[in-house]
Amino acid sequence: MIQLSRRSAQITQSEIRAMSLACRAAGGINLSQGVCDTETPRTVLDGARDALYSGHNSYTRHDGITPLREAIAAKEFRDKGVTVDPDTEIVVTGGATGALYSAIMSLLDEGDEVIVFEPYYGYHVSTLQSAGIGIRYVRLAEPTWEFTDEQLIHAVSPKTKAILINTPSNPCGKVFTREELLRIGSVAEKYNLIIFSDEIYEYFVYSGTHVSPLSIPELRHRTVVVGGFSKTFSITGWRIGYTIAPAQITAAIGHISDLVYVCAPAPLQAGVAQGLMELTPEHYHELRDDHRIKRDMICNSLAKVGLNPTIPDGAYYLLADISRIKADSSRDRALKLLEMTGIAGVPGSAFFHDNSGDHLIRFCFAKDLPIIEECCRRFEALEF
Ligand SMILES: Cc1ncc(COP(=O)(O)O)c(C=O)c1O
Repeated sequence: MIQLSRRSAQITQSEIRAMSLACRAAGGINLSQGVCDTETPRTVLDGARDALYSGHNSYTRHDGITPLREAIAAKEFRDKGVTVDPDTEIVVTGGATGALYSAIMSLLDEGDEVIVFEPYYGYHVSTLQSAGIGIRYVRLAEPTWEFTDEQLIHAVSPKTKAILINTPSNPCGKVFTREELLRIGSVAEKYNLIIFSDEIYEYFVYSGTHVSPLSIPELRHRTVVVGGFSKTFSITGWRIGYTIAPAQITAAIGHISDLVYVCAPAPLQAGVAQGLMELTPEHYHELRDDHRIKRDMICNSLAKVGLNPTIPDGAYYLLADISRIKADSSRDRALKLLEMTGIAGVPGSAFFHDNSGDHLIRFCFAKDLPIIEECCRRFEALEF
């Protein structure tokens, strides 16, 4: 028997994949995986196809093709009013996952600690853990997902190097306000911490506005934005993401990303660049409005049968309270609900380091309208 690394032993199959398998076995509707059913915009596909056939099939610059870096800088200016140097402050990466991995590897050492808000996105925690980094959790208070300065300060130790935020957040849909970012920023300033800001759901904001710490001048020099197009363009399989950070940090992230991924897929970078250049703000507004309708439909149906949802301000997931379903764990509750409705969600335990999520389930509502309608019918037919 070959001995695996200690790191491998820590990394287990995610609850999301496990629920997807259970769902397939039951022939159910999968609201567990964060895959968006919206069609990929035509221009994004055309851009990739044209690049493929016109010979853009070799390695690109390790930090991405110039048109894509320029298009990312242009959208940051258009949407956040931030000027980013496409030549020194952006690295195009293997998805947002590759972006965070490269950022962590280039900025943190084994034994360092990072503050993570809870409920969290499992990959954030697993990526940090696989790098030997300790995690201090700051619990967001249900149902408004607020936190106090005391919680944050309490989480800081001499080993703390960074605070990780996800805005809008998976799974709870929290959109951090400017005031909250300033509070996080003042702790970061006091203890000289990096702010990692995963903004992959930046175009899915239903109430409030998306504010990036990048757009707050006092925080810019310590902010590393992690972004990507998996969600915005429905291209989870393309693996196109990016980081935005000060030049010195960007250079280091670029070296790690080069080492692990060499570059993001060449023709697909071109497709994303074309999409960013050609799609107008209306496209993103429609995307948001479409998802808001679906959010409201699912939330209304769940509320009608007492599976109280917290209404997310952003992203495309919601957490619902399924304590009405009697079982020993959130996994058993989710499996029971799958049995009762044929709908799969992710057990709440996947988003907490202890058992505080046992009463919760996460549903993804980025699905085609007929699927959402069918889910609403099934939820409303539930009897307890
Ligand atoms: C918060 C968050 N960050 C990153 C990712 C992964 O993005 P990518 O496909 O670009 O690696 C996801 C996917 O679910 C996510 O929810």
